[in-house]
Amino acid sequence: MKGVVLAGGLGTRLFPLTKITNKHLLPVYNRPMVTYPIECLVKGGITDILVVTGGNHPGDFLRLLGNGREYGVEHINYAYQEGEGGIADALSLAEPHAAGGPICVVLGDNIVEKTIAHAVQDYKRHGKGAKILLKEVPDPQRFGVAVMDGHRVVRIDEKPELPSTSYAVTGIYMYDSRVFDFIKTLTPSQRGELEITDVNNRYIDEETMTWSILDGWWTDAGTFDSLLRASNLVAQGGANND
Ligand code: G1P
Repeated sequence: MKGVVLAGGLGTRLFPLTKITNKHLLPVYNRPMVTYPIECLVKGGITDILVVTGGNHPGDFLRLLGNGREYGVEHINYAYQEGEGGIADALSLAEPHAAGGPICVVLGDNIVEKTIAHAVQDYKRHGKGAKILLKEVPDPQRFGVAVMDGHRVVRIDEKPELPSTSYAVTGIYMYDSRVFDFIKTLTPSQRGELEITDVNNRYIDEETMTWSILDGWWTDAGTFDSLLRASNLVAQGGANND
């Protein structure tokens, strides 16, 4: 399975930090943010990785990551997202990289404590459809939220005012190659973006979505509070451990 790290967007919630660099190059404790999702994939057994960037300073990703060897990447590719089309739009650039096979996508501002290797193995056993990883959080209204019926995820609500559960959909997704067909049929949301939640809801509708609970702590780092939280969590307990 190949990997994709989505590190585009303008990071407006972190303005003015993002006026002078890309959000995913900002420090999280002692390393640039994007190195954590890359390490997450590598420790999950995925070493052929596409980094999709965008906005300003895309050349700095090459300067930082180079050929990826320092981070355990065997083969690294880069793509550039024009404009602010959203996560699903950025993901559409990964179609040639996926080359008809399954992919594991990690958002460039998501940091996890433990390995995702078990979830990757689980998905590979199924070999088709999609898989999401959920995490119980105190502030689900900030995320995609899983609506459950017993053990079944029946829908994902994107940033609902009144979340129906406290299970956030983390920014780690596994998809078969049909994801690119689904993306082509999407229309922009109210915030003018192609939403990854709409992609996930397609898989849910056709009943080919599986899920599991992510082990260990998880955080995004796209706001001042979560960026600080991410640095503190990494400082206290490392990231991407077994
Ligand atoms: C995105 C997704 C959301 C998901 C979150 C995880 O939100 O739209 O469903 O829960 O990532 O970090 P964003 O923070 O990019 O708006």
